[in-house]
Amino acid sequence: MITATNLTKRYGDKTAVDDLTFSVRPGVVTGFLGPNGAGKSTTMRMIVGLDRPTSGTVTVGGRAYVDQAAPMHAIGALLEARAVHTARSAYDHLLALGATTGLGRRRVDEVVDLVGLREVAHQRAGGFSLGMGQRLGIASALLGDPEVVMLDEPVNGLDLDGIRWIRGLLRSLAGEGRTVFVSSHQMSEMALTAEHLVAVGRGRLLADVSVAEMLASTDSGTVRVGTPYATELAELLAGEGVQITSSERHVLSVVGRSSEQIGAVALLHGLVLHELTPQRATLEEAFIAMTGDDVEYRSQTIDDTSRRAA
Ligand SMILES: Nc1ncnc2c1ncn2[C@@H]1O[C@H](COP(=O)(O)OP(=O)(O)OP(=O)(O)O)[C@@H](O)[C@H]1O
Ligand SMILES: [Mg+2]
Repeated sequence: MITATNLTKRYGDKTAVDDLTFSVRPGVVTGFLGPNGAGKSTTMRMIVGLDRPTSGTVTVGGRAYVDQAAPMHAIGALLEARAVHTARSAYDHLLALGATTGLGRRRVDEVVDLVGLREVAHQRAGGFSLGMGQRLGIASALLGDPEVVMLDEPVNGLDLDGIRWIRGLLRSLAGEGRTVFVSSHQMSEMALTAEHLVAVGRGRLLADVSVAEMLASTDSGTVRVGTPYATELAELLAGEGVQITSSERHVLSVVGRSSEQIGAVALLHGLVLHELTPQRATLEEAFIAMTGDDVEYRSQTIDDTSRRAA
């Protein structure tokens, strides 16, 4: 569990993180969503004590990072994309890291296998591809068998295979009951990876919702119906509160009847359907609708400029 309470970080007159209050629960993957410069990395640095809050607090498992008895077991984090630039082999890097808390070869072997680096573990980590570097960074984060796993933009620059692998890994870590907190600036990516979303813009909390809620909110209430019997079907569906329009031959847009109701009416009257599709907004549109002030989310430059002018 991660708990942030009124967490704030200022750099000079720039407020990077602005009064954030949220918690990240165990057992699910929580996405930390926000555009570039929204304050995601700054928040994550404060979670692991690499930056001090200007005000407010953040705890992991109920304790501030500095008060953790076994920090590597409390939380494992991957903060910068390529945290490892080293002449050491991946294996020796992990061994050296483990030695700081008395973890030996057995645990190093386990995490090397877990992230799929067995074949290259004895090669120089400096020569790793981006994907292999990410795997090594994740291995470092997992070394202490942490209750909380926190990764900052882990899929940046990865190919589809790498992205799928990370998604699967995050789900299985959450499935083991761990707290998994992962940042991204891409809504579509987060919707596939996370079950819950904490969204920020310009340092402020914009939304704290489940992905299921987000998806439900994308239903526009319009159903697209394709049928050669468009005229007949429209007459049968007509009624109070029902609006039917047709912009193409053999296609109706129906508001006020569900796809289930339309399908049932068509069956009852023996009318062939070629299409029956509830229309959804895109996730991005739903997100902007949900967070209200879209300017805040999308265009910090406009707002920053106007603030400077004020
Ligand atoms: N050490 C620092 N000194 C001054 N300003 C900083 C510092 N670190 C971050 N900032 C500013 O704080 C804001 C938030 O930055 P942060 O890196 O946390 O955003 P982010 O959400 O991680 O963005 P990105 O998606 O680009 O990684 C930015 O405006 C950034 O310029
Ligand atoms: Mg960042």
